[in-house]
Amino acid sequence: MAMAISSRLPAACSLLMATLMLLIVQAQSITRRYDFNVQMANVTRLCASKSIVTVNGEYPGPTLVAREGDRVLVRVTNHVAHNMTLHWHGIRQLRSGWADGPAYVTQCPIQTGQSYVYNFTVAGQRGTLWWHAHISWLRATVYGAIVILPKLGVPYPFVAPHKELPLLFGEWWRADTEALISQALRTGGAPNISDAFTINGLPGPLYNSSAKDTFKLKVEPGKTYLLRLINAALNDELFFSVANHTLTIVEVDAVYVKPFPVKTLIISPGQTTNVLLTAKPFYPKANFYMSAAPYSVIRPGTFDNTTVAGILEYHNPHSASESSFDKDLPLFRPTLPRFNDTGLVTNFTSKLRSLATPQYPAAVPQSVDRRFFFTVGLGTRPCPVNATCQGPTNTTQFAAAINNISLVLPSTALLQSHFTGKSRGVYGSNFPVLPLSQFNYTGVSPNNTNVATGTKLLVLPFNASVELVMQDTSILGIESHPLHLHGFNFFVVGQGFGNYDPVNDPMRFNLVDPVERNTVGVPAGGWVAIRFLADNPGVWFMHCHLEVHTTWGLRMAWLVLDGSLSNQKLLPPPSDLPKC
Ligand code: C2O
Repeated sequence: MAMAISSRLPAACSLLMATLMLLIVQAQSITRRYDFNVQMANVTRLCASKSIVTVNGEYPGPTLVAREGDRVLVRVTNHVAHNMTLHWHGIRQLRSGWADGPAYVTQCPIQTGQSYVYNFTVAGQRGTLWWHAHISWLRATVYGAIVILPKLGVPYPFVAPHKELPLLFGEWWRADTEALISQALRTGGAPNISDAFTINGLPGPLYNSSAKDTFKLKVEPGKTYLLRLINAALNDELFFSVANHTLTIVEVDAVYVKPFPVKTLIISPGQTTNVLLTAKPFYPKANFYMSAAPYSVIRPGTFDNTTVAGILEYHNPHSASESSFDKDLPLFRPTLPRFNDTGLVTNFTSKLRSLATPQYPAAVPQSVDRRFFFTVGLGTRPCPVNATCQGPTNTTQFAAAINNISLVLPSTALLQSHFTGKSRGVYGSNFPVLPLSQFNYTGVSPNNTNVATGTKLLVLPFNASVELVMQDTSILGIESHPLHLHGFNFFVVGQGFGNYDPVNDPMRFNLVDPVERNTVGVPAGGWVAIRFLADNPGVWFMHCHLEVHTTWGLRMAWLVLDGSLSNQKLLPPPSDLPKC
């Protein structure tokens, strides 16, 4: 008897110990270290090889995995001839703006042979985000997924998937994208459109000699898969659909949403969308395309109107082999919408709602301290004297602006100038809170379409509650602009077409469960209203995530001042912060 008790004791003890250990692990966040070596690699796509900039030779780049609450240290070493910075798109960077990454905004670039450790904590976010180069057009090939798992022991607020995987949409040019954009800037013209879209770097069977470069997803009947969709394309919003399957949207931009089913979704550059795909209950004896193609209201021919496809295949329960792809099975293709199907886009975006539960509340600012109205859109700059240009006319170059100011980046970093108190000659603090000249924004464009240039910040006191209306203009044609705000998530409280009506439109704002995100499409020929709390001190870039528009100047920056408490201040820069 006594023997039995004493032999049971250690077992009970070790069980207790294990439980304790588990509790400790749950409470503790860990530090995750990554080494990102920026290096050239040769890649063959569309029957041609080219040398591209990569991280660790991988295209797309490595997936960064962290758990909510973890600290992440990424040592980036630049082994290529281009200057480099990396941005952790959507990571809040609370007080750690030095790790945000946009070149000349929060840091000088990492020069050839140099390295910099990006050091940040993932706080209050879970889901999918992504990282990408944030200088010139290098993000064309330098990008990868960020997977943020919930804290240990915390389940997803939806059915646990059997498997999960990132699906990154990219854009491929046969030409060198750095040469292409610098040539476009010389002529003032529009850069050449891309030659293909990719899924996880692969163009797939609808492009010449690319069938061998097809992304394939093999599923088991009856199982549920979590696809972490990321639009890493440079210049195209994309529709996505899987033939004969329904997708359930469960999260966008690392914030859970009220789940809803769709046949087709829209995802803009910069955005991420987690969807559940439930495989058919029985082996369907067929293969299915997973396809993406652009959404655009601009003139056909001025954007890449091709379709990328991957293949969804089922594991055949009657075949021993796991891997072989049965190309003799019938193949189903989804019907994608027409390229300019704005109705579908509006229908989809208006269904996105925050979960708004006690565990995942929607902290929408209910009152507003500062209201702003920004026009976003295209414009022109005069061609330099004695030159001919290839802009909208041969005497103009393409430009783009917010409140008619096309932001010129300085040759030092804005955040450093602010932190060291040396802003004179670098930036002004007088970004206009509304357009300097008012016009019928979505009507006939004004005769003078020239934009002003400048480096101006909009200064916000710490914890200001902000409402911002962004209004598309019809100058050089209406267009949808995916606007991305660094350093914050915002709530999309309203959107509409035509000119924003400051009297009637606010009455329809959703202040209960609006979607919370970091990138939102300003509807083509319409407006969107967002709210956010300026609780993160630093300099925060805001720009159109269509790279061509950012390049043309559709960008600005906010300066959020320190608060009075010690935990409301921007931390000092790390000692290895690159120098210009
Ligand atoms: Cu994903 Cu400023 O960018």
